[in-house]
Amino acid sequence: MPEPVALSLTEAFAALGTRRGRQDPYPLYEAIRAHGDLARRGPGRLVVTGYDACARALRDPRLHVQDRTAYDAAYPAWRSHSSLRAFTSSMLYSNGPDHSRLRSLAGFAFTPPRVRDLAQVVEDMADRLLDRMTRLAAAGEPVDVIAEFASRLPVAVIGAVLGFPEEDQVWFRETASAIAVATDGFSDPSALHRADAAMDDLARYFGVLVDDRRRRPADDLLTTLTAAHDGEPRRLSHEELMGTLMVLLTAGFETTSFLIGHGVMIALDHAPYARRLREEPDFADAYVEEILRYEPPVHVTSRFAADDTELLGTAVPRGTRLTLIMAAANRDPLRFTAPDRFDPARGGSPGPLSFGAGPHYCLGAPLARLEARIALPRLLRRFPRLAASAPPVYRDRWVVRGLDTYPLVLGA
Ligand code: HEM
Repeated sequence: MPEPVALSLTEAFAALGTRRGRQDPYPLYEAIRAHGDLARRGPGRLVVTGYDACARALRDPRLHVQDRTAYDAAYPAWRSHSSLRAFTSSMLYSNGPDHSRLRSLAGFAFTPPRVRDLAQVVEDMADRLLDRMTRLAAAGEPVDVIAEFASRLPVAVIGAVLGFPEEDQVWFRETASAIAVATDGFSDPSALHRADAAMDDLARYFGVLVDDRRRRPADDLLTTLTAAHDGEPRRLSHEELMGTLMVLLTAGFETTSFLIGHGVMIALDHAPYARRLREEPDFADAYVEEILRYEPPVHVTSRFAADDTELLGTAVPRGTRLTLIMAAANRDPLRFTAPDRFDPARGGSPGPLSFGAGPHYCLGAPLARLEARIALPRLLRRFPRLAASAPPVYRDRWVVRGLDTYPLVLGA
């Protein structure tokens, strides 16, 4: 159970802005929830911690994601940042018809049947990474499971879907990581400048690949997106093409890596779960769903009211900005019995809000689930005596939260 703390909303948010607060934000979420499932956080601002209110807000078509118009009002300098220009040209930062168009162009590659067809690719990639870990640990040294497994697998898989050369994966993992901070609510200005430099590198890299697909079309998402850009009528502008490729590369990389990292951490803390993951082929499904609820990689998102609306009887006037804390909604005591207890047997209803809901529901959710369901049992079966050699270290971020390092002895 998180320690209950009595704080004003201002104090709780100030604490979330500190390294200490971000290390364990759950007691702060409870302090925020004590002000109501839907609490006023100053004029024109609401913060949502309740499951029902959060689920409704995510589905309400009048509540929009931050798009270019919203950025103009909130942060007029955004146009001078190439990372923010790319994000705002993607589906994640678009509303209405633009959003539908951008989403439909990439969506075909992530439908459940298409993703099921990737299972063999994911298994082969996971096995190759496990072989590599075996070699790295040959001298008995600890291996960082985040750097060597949890973060490599998602990059390899999305790289295969997009059609990126395998030898570039380490480079674009580092580059994508630098860009991801541009979306973090508390990122500092120097991090944003690093994100811009990384985005410029990435745009040059994408440019070369796009040219290549023009000359030599292949059966991959990059070829489809290039054709949408080059076609008549043009369905994707140049900035949208860059934004789409960048979002597909970044949205699924750290998030899935953190999902796998949390899965490893909890299994090593609870031997019976590690045993069941090794021995029961179906257990991984329920286990991964509970990891998503209990330690979601994405804690928070935001919306603004493009029109007057209401949420569970509370008026939400046009222009209101909403902070939706999905990680708090996932532990709403009105919806989950003993919400702070990790319990894979709790069943699927209500489902966690870890992938969002409504029009922006995570495009890569089936892929992320597939990767974690394959990766965790394979890792634990390959190294039955796997153990932590030092405590896991959390990355100092709030919005996308997970383990930075977790050194393990393989014991093989
Ligand atoms: C455990 C892993 C993942 C988590 C927790 C996660 C979480 C989320 C969340 C919460 C959203 C909605 C944001 C909002 O409504 O404001 C989202 C959207 C999105 N995710 Fe994921 N994601 C994961 C993996 C992936 C993967 C593997 C991909 C790769 C394709 C991906 C691509 C996207 C895209 C493109 C969107 C934007 C969808 C839209 O705006 O229509 N995600 N994700």
